[in-house]
Amino acid sequence: MDLANRSLVTVDDLSIGEMEGLFSLADEMSDSMNEQRGVCQGKVMASLFFEPSTRTRLSFEAAMHRLGGNVISAVDIGSTSLAKGESIADMARVVGSYADIIVIRHPWEGAAKVVADYAGVPVINAGDGGHQHPTQTLCDLYTLQKERHTIKGLRITLWGDLKYGRTIHSLIFALAKFGADILFCPSPGLEVPEHVIKKLTTEYGGELVRYEALDQAVKEGRFPLDAIYITPSSPHQLAMMPTISMQVELKAGVDALYVTRPQQERFATAEEGQELKKRYPVVNKRLLKGKAFRKTLVMHPLPRVDELAYELDADSRSMYFKQAARGVPVRMALIALLLGAKEVAIAKEEPLPKIDYPLYRRGFGVKCPNPKCVSGQETEMKYLKPEFKIANREPLTLRCIYCEHGLEPKYIASSHWHEGRLDSKKYHSADSHWVREIRPENLIIFDSENEAQTHGFKPSSYVTRRRKEHGKG
Ligand code: NCD
Repeated sequence: MDLANRSLVTVDDLSIGEMEGLFSLADEMSDSMNEQRGVCQGKVMASLFFEPSTRTRLSFEAAMHRLGGNVISAVDIGSTSLAKGESIADMARVVGSYADIIVIRHPWEGAAKVVADYAGVPVINAGDGGHQHPTQTLCDLYTLQKERHTIKGLRITLWGDLKYGRTIHSLIFALAKFGADILFCPSPGLEVPEHVIKKLTTEYGGELVRYEALDQAVKEGRFPLDAIYITPSSPHQLAMMPTISMQVELKAGVDALYVTRPQQERFATAEEGQELKKRYPVVNKRLLKGKAFRKTLVMHPLPRVDELAYELDADSRSMYFKQAARGVPVRMALIALLLGAKEVAIAKEEPLPKIDYPLYRRGFGVKCPNPKCVSGQETEMKYLKPEFKIANREPLTLRCIYCEHGLEPKYIASSHWHEGRLDSKKYHSADSHWVREIRPENLIIFDSENEAQTHGFKPSSYVTRRRKEHGKG
């Protein structure tokens, strides 16, 4: 397997076989931790952490030291030229000329992709806002693999802040890739974002069953089950009989309970945070007394706040400190592979059908709706154009290539308008038949009528008719 010179920005960047290869290299390295000093000798890793971190930064740095390499670091945006208004792209180019590999944590969603696009060296995303945290997912999967010897077919419960938790978003796609079933137990108001669900069900297949509670624990609010994702590789009783699902599901037992803290630094306002925190469910001895949890691995990316009781630390089901410790060999294996210092053989695998979505890259007409997306930040807008995958035609759905948020724009036009005459330069409703007729490469997309008119387009009869239907004509 050759991972040399590649970057890890999202979990989509690694196949199942590549992850399994990485885990076997991590096994090998953890068995002989003190014999790895020659692997990356003379190499330099830049460690750029612009959000708080203990485990991720220190385990990356420990990993590079154990591989015999060197580390340069910046841990505060205020101490870098980003604070003077430098763009991420310029920083990436410069740091890429000093280091052989870059690890970056940044509050803006999609920032790691920008660094990877400009650095010229492998880049590892150590967390980009609430978007993804793929190396935490590698540690999580490695723990599941070591404790259960397989990931396929496991039932994993995701607990807590499923809205803002980047570890959750990465883990969802990775678990789906491996063929695990996922039980979503969000704290009220912190459900999995719609764009994550959409990507999960369209790209990974499977089915999302919204759950109607029957079980006592659910009724009492101790087990806040909201939905279950059933992998396509395990045709399931649940898909056929969703209403009696929870009892069946819990009887069969939960293999792992993945707990997360409220990501309060990402809440819209402090008041919202207070409200959301009040209702946050706690995992404690009482919850885990249930039959379903007899053999459940209790996992957490850490840090914890109040959602995971300290009384569980001595329980043999608790895995969170092991997860953190395993971060070093997993990150050693990853660094060595991306630097081309190691290779591992992978079993021939059936790739997941990869969908090549057409791109919308005109740079005008629509913007990413996510205020935390890197493509909407003032400095970055000077050189980054909003860019989207056209993930669906009907309804027309775009997905930002940076932060992966989705949007359903309302207006479209064709760059090949009729005979090129100004009076026939028309825009249409995105839900009219035109969405099927205009070829993707000719599609012009607008998020408002105003935007369409600013670009010289006039409403077509479809738009005016619709306005009349809605009483605005
Ligand atoms: C996580 C993170 O930073 O997203 N921490 C980690 O890397 N282990 C989880 C969190 O902060 O809640």
